[in-house]
Order: sequence, then structure tokens, then C-alpha cells
Amino acid sequence: MINIPRGTQDILPTESKKWRYIERRLEELMTLYNYEELRTPIFESTELFARGVGDSTDVVQKEMYTFKDKGDRSITLRPEGTAAVVRSYIENKMQGYANQPIKLYYLGPMFRYERKQKGRYRQFTQFGVEAIGAENPSIDAEILAMAVHIYESFGLQHLKLVINSIGDIESRKEYNDALVKHFEPVIGDFCSDCQSRLHTNPMRILDCKVDKDKEAVKNAPRITEYLNEASTKYYNEVKQHLDRLGIRYEEDPNLVRGLDYYTHTAFELMIDNPNYDGAITTLCGGGRYNGLLELLDGPNQTGIGFALSIERLLLALEEENIELDVDNDFDLFIVTMGKEADDYAVKLLNDLRKQGVKADKDYMDRKIKGQMKQADRLNADYTIVIGDQELENNQVAIKDMTTGESESIQLDSVGAYFNK
Ligand code: HAM
Repeated sequence: MINIPRGTQDILPTESKKWRYIERRLEELMTLYNYEELRTPIFESTELFARGVGDSTDVVQKEMYTFKDKGDRSITLRPEGTAAVVRSYIENKMQGYANQPIKLYYLGPMFRYERKQKGRYRQFTQFGVEAIGAENPSIDAEILAMAVHIYESFGLQHLKLVINSIGDIESRKEYNDALVKHFEPVIGDFCSDCQSRLHTNPMRILDCKVDKDKEAVKNAPRITEYLNEASTKYYNEVKQHLDRLGIRYEEDPNLVRGLDYYTHTAFELMIDNPNYDGAITTLCGGGRYNGLLELLDGPNQTGIGFALSIERLLLALEEENIELDVDNDFDLFIVTMGKEADDYAVKLLNDLRKQGVKADKDYMDRKIKGQMKQADRLNADYTIVIGDQELENNQVAIKDMTTGESESIQLDSVGAYFNK
């Protein structure tokens, strides 16, 4: 037997109903915020992520599905959406579009070769948004508010919004220098990843799972002390907006995020349920990326966005015992007795479905009792039983499965019955 690859999953019909419900709800929410869908390819040039996400990140170093295609090009299955959206923005010269900023959303599979864990997959589905072309604290606030709104609209309550500012490129550089100075004397005690991160990406040391309890991490310099005036002002304005919107948040100066492109606002939304015992608590994450477009040879524009995975959203819903109001409606099950009735049902079904009625019949030669059971399983609102007599008299009893009451109607007007 050939098994499914590690870290992937089949989404079986009862589950895919939930997925569809969530995807539709997300799309509806996007219309409220005036974001439009962008679909980019599942694979891109490896260089896009190496440059965009950052050579020294775990994503690029350890987690990408990279291969040579038959033309000897290095190709990578996308591990995230931002770099691809920015590539498309640049390539399509969206800075020239009339409506600015450009507000985009995307939904689709992403791939990361990660250790398998509950809530962590090698193929997962991200829903993400990016607003490109405006550097204005109000759009940062809009993005954060939208992330909270999304989760709340599914009924989730135990949420914690954690924010930080990484500062502008200048502040970030000064802070990185301070971290290198701070960690250099003790780096020998740190894990090999941190040792190689020291000069390439010192902020990531703050986020290391292995070394997180070390004294040097706990008393490391704080980004807040290195924000220049403009960065502090920007951050304060974002927080003032959040206060005005009544959005609660916690500040965490160690929140640095795993991808290199962030500047200014960085945030994560976490599960905040005291009874939750899973290891993964981050539901979604994002932030501002002021240098990314130029880094990818684009115009001097800035952006902000976030992404969440449907897998973790479902995990959070399950944790809070929230049932989604998925569409389980089914209109009519046709029970048949005998070949002639069955032939009639084939034609009737064909007509009904074209008319928009959700209907089905038996294909397994079940007895009447078995067919009625099938109608129950499908949650059918109505059933009819067609036999020789019904065919002969053109009369059939249509049974309302909720009330148990039946009504006699003409067999050739079942379609008309559903029309009303
Ligand atoms: P990220 O933090 O790497 O950010 O991923 C965002 C979200 O994707 C996570 O919070 C989580 O919900 C989900 N996710 C990531 N990896 C996995 C996995 N292996 N299995 C299941 N879910 C996962 C980004 O990807 C940025 N592009 C977000 C962003 C958009 N920043 C600005 N704009």
C-alpha cells in the first residue's frame, strides 16, 4: 500500500465541507475590507524566496522543497505567499494602478519541510492578505483589526494579539549590531543554529526554542531601546489606533518573527486558552515589510500583511468546541420499487437537478427500509416512494421528513412542487 506523504493530509468529505465554509466566509470578509484575490503559481524561482524571505531563515535554509526542473532551473514550491505577491506586484507594475494602495488576498497550499507536529504540516493552506503602497499607521491598524475580526467572526474567544515594532531599516540595523555585541562573548554556549545566526540574523537568537531560557536571551537588549524617533512615532500611532478600536494587545519586545523582511509592526495572534495543551499556539502572523520591494528590484513602495493557515484555524475551532454552520441541506430522496420506477427516477432526478433541487436515489438495489435509512443519512427534507401504482396513477405521496406529514401530489409535478 502506498501511503500519503508525511505531513500532508486528505481532507475527507465531512471535513472539506468545513473548509469550503471557511473559505467562503473569508472571501466574504475580504469584500468588506475591499481586498481582491490574487492567484500566483504554486512554484516560483528559488531565488525569489532566498532573497525575499532571507537566506539565513529556517524557512530558506531547512524547509524549502527545492528541485531542478528539466530546463535546469532551480524551482521551489512556495513556502509562503508574501514574496510571491510582491513579485507579482512588481512584475505587473501595480504601483501604476489607479486604486491605491493595492489590497490583495490569497488562499492556497504552501509547502515547508518541517518536523511533523499537531498544527504543523508540510503542505498547509494559507489565507493571507497584503496591502502594498501605503505607509500609514491606519493601514497597519486595519490589518491587525482584520486578523482579529476574522477569528472572532468564527466565534473564537480565547485569543491574544501580541505586537512589537522591529523599527525601520536603520533602527533594525542598530539593534542587530547591539545583539551581536551582546551575544558574541557567550555564543559558545548556544546551539549550532544560533552560532551560525550570530552574524547573519542575530534577532533569530531571541526566538530560538533551544536557547530560550538562557540568561543572555533574557537580558538581551530590547528592540524598544533602539527604535529611532520615526519608528517610535509610527509604533505609537499604530497602538493609538488599536486603542481607539478597542482591540486588546500585549507587547512583546522579543517577537521577531521567522522571516527576514519585517520592519516596524510585527504581530501574532495566539490561542489564549488556559486549558489548551497543544504545542502550537500561533494562529496567524504578519507585519510590515518596508524594504522588501526594493530588495526584489521593485519600486520604493512598502507593504503590510499577514497569513493564517486553515489547518490551525480548524484546530482552534475544535479546541473551543465551535461547530461551523456547514450546509448539510438535502432536498429530496427518491425511493423506488422496481425497474420501471427506477428508470422513471433517473429521468426525474436529471430534471430536478437542472432545476436546482438537491436530489438523489438508490443505486444499490436496497429494500425500501434501506432506502429510507439512506434518506435519513443524507438529511433529506423530503422523500417520495415511486412504485408501479404511482406510475400508473401519476400520484405520489411526498413526505416532509421533519414533520413526518405526507401530501399527495401528481408525480409529473414534483419539479413544480419544489419550484414553489
Ligand atoms: P508565517 O508566520 O511563516 O508568516 O506563517 C503564517 C501562518 O501560516 C502561521 O501563523 C500559521 O498559521 C501558518 N503556518 C505556517 N507554517 C505552517 C505549517 N507548517 N503548518 C500549518 N500552518 C502553518 C508568513 O508566512 C508570512 N508570509 C505572513 C505575512 C504576510 N507577513 C506579511 N504578510
